[in-house]
Amino acid sequence: DINLKSRDLLTLAHLEKDEILGLLDKAIIRKEKTLKKQFDQPLKGKILGMIFDKSSTRTRVSFEVGMIQLGGSALYLNGKDLQLGRGESLSDTAQVLSQYLDAIMIRTFSHKSVEELAYHADIPVINGLTDLDHPCQALADLMTIYEKKGKLEGLKLAYIGDGNNVAHSLMIACTKVGIDISLACPSGYFPDSQITSLCENFAEKSGAKLVLTTSPTEAVAQADAIYTDVWTSMGQEEENEKRKKDFQNFQVNAELLTSAKEDYLFLHCLPAHRGEEVAAEVIDGKHSVVFEQAGNRLHAQKALLVEILKD
Ligand code: CP
Ligand code: NVA
Repeated sequence: DINLKSRDLLTLAHLEKDEILGLLDKAIIRKEKTLKKQFDQPLKGKILGMIFDKSSTRTRVSFEVGMIQLGGSALYLNGKDLQLGRGESLSDTAQVLSQYLDAIMIRTFSHKSVEELAYHADIPVINGLTDLDHPCQALADLMTIYEKKGKLEGLKLAYIGDGNNVAHSLMIACTKVGIDISLACPSGYFPDSQITSLCENFAEKSGAKLVLTTSPTEAVAQADAIYTDVWTSMGQEEENEKRKKDFQNFQVNAELLTSAKEDYLFLHCLPAHRGEEVAAEVIDGKHSVVFEQAGNRLHAQKALLVEILKD
């Protein structure tokens, strides 16, 4: 059995393969219970604080609903309204919030800030997205692929687009569990080199293949799952016009997908921009699992919260 009690989740890189697989099993059991409306209360009385410095639909609602369904509760804390927004230090904030809460989920820009918060907090900290990583997303992504394909090891995933936070968390997740991953990015938009070398080590251990290319066609060939994300992430809005030009040959559309496996899955973390990173025919087509994927955020995070916070 896995033991994540009182641990932070800043990145899946900190989890062992068996811990990731164990969480997925628990997420699938949680999902069955939730769909049957069987709500036990393993987190009765526990309170999660959720700090947001960026917008959110899925992360905010799924964490809050998850805590309520588990018998606990959650507080939405807008970073701008906290004293943090007026310059109170992360260290002081962490020590104060540790007196009131049982865990903190934070969505912000700098990954270093989340590490600093976690270092100073006496309670577990969960990364709800930074500029570098989005581990809770990757858990739901793996869960979705596992449900649809009945396995993970030996599959091939193609990620087309920006080498961003979502690309990083997918790379980590796939190379940890043994999914071959090919990422096609325009030059200048490749994943972070430190994360890439970390993933090369994970790949060596799991037997996964990790390929970086500038050719979407090469990446998609014989892929079981195709994934894309927005070209302009939160915080990069002023680069939007430049990015639209730089990414114009990186749209996931029906033509690109002709070389994927016949039964490919299409995934996207959402929010999506139809006509930019993905054509409507793909995201609204029969291979798309994006809404089940979004739904799985709830189940995967509930499993995670129970493991971290249970008595
Ligand atoms: N995928 C995801 O994290 O969505 P939100 O930005 O809506 O939370
Ligand atoms: N890469 C996107 C993901 C949003 C869930 C962003 O950071 O804005």
